[in-house]
Amino acid sequence: MSSINTVLNFTAHKPHVNAESAADASRASAKAGVLHQLPVHSEVAKPLVPKPIVLKISQVAKEYVLGGKQLKVLEGIDLEVRQGEFVSIVGASGCGKSTLLRLIAGLDAGYDGNIVYLGQTVRETDLSRGIVFQEHRLFPWLTVEENILLAFSATDVPKAERKARVKAQIEVVGLSGFEKAYPHQISGGMSQRVAIARALILRPKLLLLDEPFAALDALTRLKLQQELVRLWEQEDLTTILVTHDVEEAVFLGDSVVVMESHPGRIKRIVPVNLPRPHVRADLEFQRIKEDVLQDFV
Ligand SMILES: Nc1ncnc2c1ncn2[C@@H]1O[C@H](COP(=O)(O)OP(=O)(O)OP(=O)(O)O)[C@@H](O)[C@H]1O
Ligand SMILES: [Mg+2]
Repeated sequence: MSSINTVLNFTAHKPHVNAESAADASRASAKAGVLHQLPVHSEVAKPLVPKPIVLKISQVAKEYVLGGKQLKVLEGIDLEVRQGEFVSIVGASGCGKSTLLRLIAGLDAGYDGNIVYLGQTVRETDLSRGIVFQEHRLFPWLTVEENILLAFSATDVPKAERKARVKAQIEVVGLSGFEKAYPHQISGGMSQRVAIARALILRPKLLLLDEPFAALDALTRLKLQQELVRLWEQEDLTTILVTHDVEEAVFLGDSVVVMESHPGRIKRIVPVNLPRPHVRADLEFQRIKEDVLQDFV
């Protein structure tokens, strides 16, 4: 069984962000209107007990029928993810990364093996698991505010509370002032932030991100990566990110899951035993990145 054995280190490095300081940060950033300029916290490692495993994937296999033929897409996937852990997944195009994320989200119940999240077998979607797709999937005829509000449609959250939460979430992703804008009136990076806000508004405990920054320019991408780290820390999110960008995977992840193709399998799991925030110029960072890249040359 592939298991993520970096957890002790990762939990030790993950800074503690209490509710008050998070709220302060949120208020301060809302005032500043630019969340990504907040420093990412860093703290000296201290020994902590490992957090509980919240997601356990055992021997998962998935087949599609394509042109009348069985296509084995995933095979023998074993993965354990602990609460608050950030797992990056990299792998060649078509190796089954999105398929795996969809299974974890509960968007596709047709698989073999077991996916257990918080003690429950995953066969359908649940509000505790949020997903952000590669393309933002915003409705062009709805404003930023309305697109995010839509997330509440399957809930019984009272109307008054919805508005307040949307306002707060818009602040968190640094989009205050753009509530009434339509998707065509904001940039690609801003649209992605709306999609992230829409996923976060229901306060998921598990956030699944499928190449959320792939379509963005390099600078916006760097900014959103920092914002994501901040949100992950602030909300204590367990996060699984699929990316093609190995540097992004190492920058964000506590570990990098390397997948191989035909059928999609986990080749290895590379721990990122570095203090937060991860520094790209750091020699050890570079070494880990080079190590992962070796799988693709
Ligand atoms: N609905 C479907 N029906 C049939 N085959 C599918 C379906 N969805 C995906 N596949 C096949 O499953 C394989 C894995 O697809 P998947 O989208 O999971 O790959 P991926 O690793 O996310 O690739 P990329 O990096 O390009 O996004 C591909 O061969 C694809 O053709
Ligand atoms: Mg994909």
